[in-house]
Amino acid sequence: MSNDKKFRSYDWFGKSDKMGFVHRSWLRNQGYPSDYFDGRPVIGICNTWSDLTPCNAHLRDFAEVVKRGVIEAGGFPLEFPVTSLGETIMRPSTMLFRNLASMDTEETIRANPLDGVVLLTGCDKTTPSTLMGACSVDLPTIVVPGGPMLNGRYKGECVGSGSFNWLIKEKQTVENYTAADILEMEIGVARSQGHCMTMGTASTMACMVEALGLTLPGAAAIPAVDSRKKVMAQLSGRRIVEMVKEDLKLSKVLTREAFENAIVVNAAVGESTNFIIHLLAIAGRIGVALNLDDFDALGSKIPLLVNLKPSGKYLMEDFYYAGGLPVVLQEIMPYLHPDTITVNGSTLGQNNAEMTCHNKEVIATLAEPLQTEAGIAVLKGNLCENGALIKPSAASPALMKHRGRAVVFETIEDYHARIDDPDLDIDETCVIVLKGVGPKGYPGMPEVGNVDLPEKLLKKGIRDMVRISDGRMSGTAAGTVVLHVSPESAVGGTLAVVQNGDMIELDVEQRRLHLDISDEELQRRKAAWVPPAPRAVRGYVKLYINHVQQAHLGADMDLLQGGSGSELTRDLH
Ligand code: FES
Repeated sequence: MSNDKKFRSYDWFGKSDKMGFVHRSWLRNQGYPSDYFDGRPVIGICNTWSDLTPCNAHLRDFAEVVKRGVIEAGGFPLEFPVTSLGETIMRPSTMLFRNLASMDTEETIRANPLDGVVLLTGCDKTTPSTLMGACSVDLPTIVVPGGPMLNGRYKGECVGSGSFNWLIKEKQTVENYTAADILEMEIGVARSQGHCMTMGTASTMACMVEALGLTLPGAAAIPAVDSRKKVMAQLSGRRIVEMVKEDLKLSKVLTREAFENAIVVNAAVGESTNFIIHLLAIAGRIGVALNLDDFDALGSKIPLLVNLKPSGKYLMEDFYYAGGLPVVLQEIMPYLHPDTITVNGSTLGQNNAEMTCHNKEVIATLAEPLQTEAGIAVLKGNLCENGALIKPSAASPALMKHRGRAVVFETIEDYHARIDDPDLDIDETCVIVLKGVGPKGYPGMPEVGNVDLPEKLLKKGIRDMVRISDGRMSGTAAGTVVLHVSPESAVGGTLAVVQNGDMIELDVEQRRLHLDISDEELQRRKAAWVPPAPRAVRGYVKLYINHVQQAHLGADMDLLQGGSGSELTRDLH
């Protein structure tokens, strides 16, 4: 072997002792020739493919394309599976398993002879989970987002995956949609491989990694079935080999400035609220100081440039044809740090100069934005001592300042049991309060914050009400919905002691969320509060409940903060 100990994989493949023999010999059963062990960069292709994750079901093919690129550049590709998180199928919530998937990714990378990693991602949590894990190892890493599905079509109209399902109750109740109508739409919104094609969480995550500098330029918006997506995958395979030689590891790309860029860019595209919880968790792994207030300070005044559902009109396919994220990056560059380095070795500014917008209805200009202020607002007040979020671009302007009577549901089961009760004492001025859906309480902080309105109010023509919870909301949803209330009710935050009939004040402009009771009454209720019994007593879920942090810290587990680096696992043989 002429291996010269240049790379980490030397310790497995470069030695002529017994263990060098073992490490090479068993891999040879796949037919690798001797020169694959000659000291070339070994590239792990971390694949979130699964039949149970429909949004990522095409990634097995993509891995072969990435391998092609790695081999062309003189690397040795080794694909490996990690826990995949299928948003639409997993119960009770993929968020419960995001940290588990990150642990899987982290330990698999560290335990194996890898010099660089390609992350194949798609569905919502598959991007942050794998990136969190990779950050805790800090090898050279490039992300290949799997891409959105083609636009959904139904009766000649564009329909967005994810966004329509929130309207099903309304369509059935108010527009008399039949079962046949719903079936036709069920088929029409999933016309190709890929993830949700709205600016939901998956698309937001793809824009996040491109803005962070972790993809090749333009990767985020290319539809999954567009041949250019495979070109991107192949070029990423080539590039990761060079990144290993340059030692361009994650921590060199993921600077504080890169995180600030991601906040600005994601505001301009009309991000999902989930972006915040995931970016906080990623920052915690790579060791960059970031907090909830940064998102308001940096993002809330950023103009909205992208006209995509759920807030707007178009879908990801249209976004790609209009020029995709590079056009947004160029337009928003005055708000960015242009000198941040990206995985192709050039800066964000260099990568995104002289772009042409092909459709200004889809991507607006700074001079004529869709909204002047698009980012997510961080609320504070006695109802959310550590903060809460609202997405103003998805909310009703008339409700942005509102005082209303609380109608309280202690759990999501309580909500389902009573929301359509004709005798429920509720009208459109009320505030729906949902408890018990936070990180520890549910557990796993599900996307239920945008609960449906009562049937009787839908029939009256009411389409939005103020809703408050310690849960999350799908990136494909909309409404005047206050989310991520921290501390959550399960740990005795003020949310836990809200009672039916209390008055609640929301003032988004003043960033205020207030429970209108006296301090004395609040303290009296808190002293009398009894914590709910935990919902799990064993296994991973118990570990999660014991260690998960609150939403304002990214809901990562305390024992996973930071990283252990890429130090080799001891070889005990
Ligand atoms: Fe996978 Fe929406 S369900 S991206």
